Amino acid sequence: MQQLTSSQQLSAFARGSDVGLVPTMGALHAGHASLVERAKQENGCVIVSIFVNPLQFNKADDLRKYPQTLVADIALLEKLNVDAVYLPQYADVYPEGNDVQQLSAGSAGDSFEGAARPGHFDGMLTVVHRLLQQVSPSHVYFGEKDAQQLCLARLMVEKLEMPVKVVGCDLIRDADGLAFSSRNVHLSDAARNDALRLHQALIRASEDFAAGERQAQNLLNTIHEVLNGGDIKIAYCAVVNDKTFAELNAEVDCGSRVIIAAEVGGVHLLDNMSLVS
Ligand code: PAJ
Repeated sequence: MQQLTSSQQLSAFARGSDVGLVPTMGALHAGHASLVERAKQENGCVIVSIFVNPLQFNKADDLRKYPQTLVADIALLEKLNVDAVYLPQYADVYPEGNDVQQLSAGSAGDSFEGAARPGHFDGMLTVVHRLLQQVSPSHVYFGEKDAQQLCLARLMVEKLEMPVKVVGCDLIRDADGLAFSSRNVHLSDAARNDALRLHQALIRASEDFAAGERQAQNLLNTIHEVLNGGDIKIAYCAVVNDKTFAELNAEVDCGSRVIIAAEVGGVHLLDNMSLVS
């Protein structure tokens, strides 16, 4: 595996025409690995980027505390047979004097995770756009774990008519049902136990949907019942149209997504599930 530590090294890396890009911020886990495995199946060359993008952090403390596990990350990517890992410095991504296009996520970026973290999605799209320009992949991989991010990346690629296919990958969970997240390392044992309720609540709502329940409010009531108790502060909980992230307040249909964000033991966690009958 090549380690490309500058934009010059990235430009010089011979990569052919079917290239899969997996953008990450490091602290890699099984969720990231699943994206890489999918990219390996679908492309002759796979490049993983690791860049903790300051533009998408609205709190300096979150950026400072972001877990850094580079040695383990590189070992995992070697094991997964990735062709190259791109490890840019800030100036490689945002060169001074170069007019880096700052993107706006628009109204779909102001709700839910965007309301909780102002500017987050503008910063996320700006870096994804830069990485797509620098790597020129044929496919780019995102996890459904961050469903709003995936939706916004799709909308950006469509709007800017970028020549890349956005591939959404399944959310991967630990054996106990907790969605893998780089933030899980901050959970105490008790908080981790409480956090399992997020998945349990989603399962209950999807069971109700499969049994015929179609009213958003009734599905949300079930979720609130399951989340009630424990050290859980719900940030938001909604049913959305998966293609636009518009909130659905009345009747919901197959393919709609239930999304939850909560502070569990002080750790901000996300989870979601697509409704199928
Ligand atoms: P990061 O949090 O490192 O996540 C990188 C990718 O891994 C994202 O597409 C995310 O949805 C996916 N992922 C994380 N946990 C997952 C899980 N449990 N199952 C499936 N996929 C999972 O998301 C970012 O980085 C950044 O915003 C980035 C897109 C790299 C831009 O800076």
